Amino acid sequence: MSYPYKIGSKEAYQAAWKRSVEDPEGFWADVAGNFDWKKRWDKVLDWNFTEPNVKWFVGGKLNVTENCLDRHLVERGDEAAIIWEPNNPKEQYRTLSYTELHAEVCRFANVLKNNGVRKGDRVCIYMGMVPELAIAVLACARIGAIHSVIFGGFSAKSIADRLVDAQAEYIVTADGAYRGAKDIPLKSVIDDALDQVDIVKKVIVLLRTKTPVSMIKNRDVWWADEMARADAACPAEVMDAEDPLFILYTSGSTGKPKGVVHSSGGYMVYAAYSFVNVFQYEPAQIHFCTADIGWITGHSYIVYGPLCAGATVMMFEGIPTWPDAGRFWDIVDKHKVNILYTAPTAIRSLMAYGTEWVDKHDLSSLRILGSVGEPINEEAWHWFDKHVGKGKCPIVDTWWQTETGGIMISNLAGVTPAKPSFATLPLPGVQPVLMDEKGNEIEGNDVSGNLCIKFPWPSIIRTTYGDHERCRANYFAAYPNYYFTGDGCYMDVDGNYRITGRVDDVLNVSGHRIGTAEVENAINMHEGVVESAVVGYPHDLKGQGIYAYVIHDNTHDEELTRQDILQTVARIIGPIAKPDKIQFVKGLPKTRSGKIMRRILRKIAEGDMSNMGDTTTLLDPQVVDDIKEGKL
Ligand code: PRX
Repeated sequence: MSYPYKIGSKEAYQAAWKRSVEDPEGFWADVAGNFDWKKRWDKVLDWNFTEPNVKWFVGGKLNVTENCLDRHLVERGDEAAIIWEPNNPKEQYRTLSYTELHAEVCRFANVLKNNGVRKGDRVCIYMGMVPELAIAVLACARIGAIHSVIFGGFSAKSIADRLVDAQAEYIVTADGAYRGAKDIPLKSVIDDALDQVDIVKKVIVLLRTKTPVSMIKNRDVWWADEMARADAACPAEVMDAEDPLFILYTSGSTGKPKGVVHSSGGYMVYAAYSFVNVFQYEPAQIHFCTADIGWITGHSYIVYGPLCAGATVMMFEGIPTWPDAGRFWDIVDKHKVNILYTAPTAIRSLMAYGTEWVDKHDLSSLRILGSVGEPINEEAWHWFDKHVGKGKCPIVDTWWQTETGGIMISNLAGVTPAKPSFATLPLPGVQPVLMDEKGNEIEGNDVSGNLCIKFPWPSIIRTTYGDHERCRANYFAAYPNYYFTGDGCYMDVDGNYRITGRVDDVLNVSGHRIGTAEVENAINMHEGVVESAVVGYPHDLKGQGIYAYVIHDNTHDEELTRQDILQTVARIIGPIAKPDKIQFVKGLPKTRSGKIMRRILRKIAEGDMSNMGDTTTLLDPQVVDDIKEGKL
């Protein structure tokens, strides 16, 4: 397979970027022409950022799975599409060739149809990292159903909220999932969610962990039974380029997660284009993205991008530290992985175990390393470079978001230069700008501001499911006619971008986005809690930790209450949102208008007790001293 849209030199990068700004439609038409369309588009782009209304490849018809599967069958049908490494290294790994993956996807697509799923229906997928997760995702795309994958760490309540928001009538799950030493009882969590929601018609359950499950007559069916009676052939549904491909929920600054909607045509083109260019992918290389398919990184760089490019992807069920801290390196060695794409939080945690775990394994197959999800600190960058890449593998620091669908700012491996802790330069087709508080673009270099994008790219968010106004208000209102990322950014003298973190009330904990309001809502549900305020603080491993200030009516034992609050948060959102620290306080620093001054709470959480700034507007300045005294 060749990639005519691959940019292979610094000069080509500069020329491509220039063309993408001067003639974006011509630029993207050339890229999109390398994919299989059932009908070519009539118009490349229609857009405004006021409604917003963005349409790419207008009138084009395609099916994403024909691009990810069918078109590879003749030339590379026998080559591995997915190599799956199980949680337990003693269990046999599995390889699915393109031919096999295609067959499984078609058969499971028929299972979905046999169970009533039709084009446009929403299917919630709640599974561990098994090949059947990728199969379920692609099977939805095959028949034009809209998948909504929910990460296996979310609670029943979170699932119930998402089911209702997406009006999803179908679920694909498993009895359980293995993650390190733990078994997660997925079906049982789904059952708890279904006690709260009555719209679900069918639940398809994969047998994985042999965890006992309740199977409700006429509602719950086994994956294997359904596969056994399904037809093998499933023609791909003809989809409009703008038909939604999936919904993925992500946290924002309000209490309720948003269903980010991505399109079929534009998303696919950008996922493949960014995959090939950022990682400089060469046919037959093995690409290992360690993210879970429950997050956007897994959607774009385990499933859609690589498969569309005919790549071989490594999919891993487990965690980096089980059965020992050498597990990633064992996988790299065992399967001769060429590209390793992971998160700073994983690097920092493995770093803490020492280099002997890395040094034990032969990592000479590695060519390219990648980082995603949060700013990578220089120490982690250098450790990754020295001990994993042995100083020979370019590192790509890839900045992007659930809403952007694909990597937006990153060096291209070995083509454009890396700079530790900088995402560096935009991909051709991406036009970032820094904005000042007044809403003006900041000119020149060596400047800081809020990061916006001034022109659409094919995989931009189309809407927030069921509530377009929310999409407008969240992303297109702060700066009229710009997409606002929510991130702060510094640009160095050479024009390299360095993402400095969120400027809204969103935390980034271990590379996962969590809204402070969401955590506060969950804490406030615990009996006896009067009020709470949640802020982030620097955390050695997680990047950011969650610090909660809680006013409690104090009738119970403090330590027990703390544990109960953690339990409540795990129930309401999931264990990932559990606060790292809970400080009980008598009052919160509020202005006379009742607004919590988070700036002060952040400083205290960071341990910076010096100058608290102007506290004269506080209703009761004394609370600040009380909180300082009680700091954990
Ligand atoms: O703050 C940025 C941070 O993660 C946010 C997006 O989170 P999410 O939608 O969950 O997607 C994560 C995976 C794409 C961004 O707003 N972020 C992501 N990548 C980087 C980053 N911050 C700094 N450097 C990065 N490379």
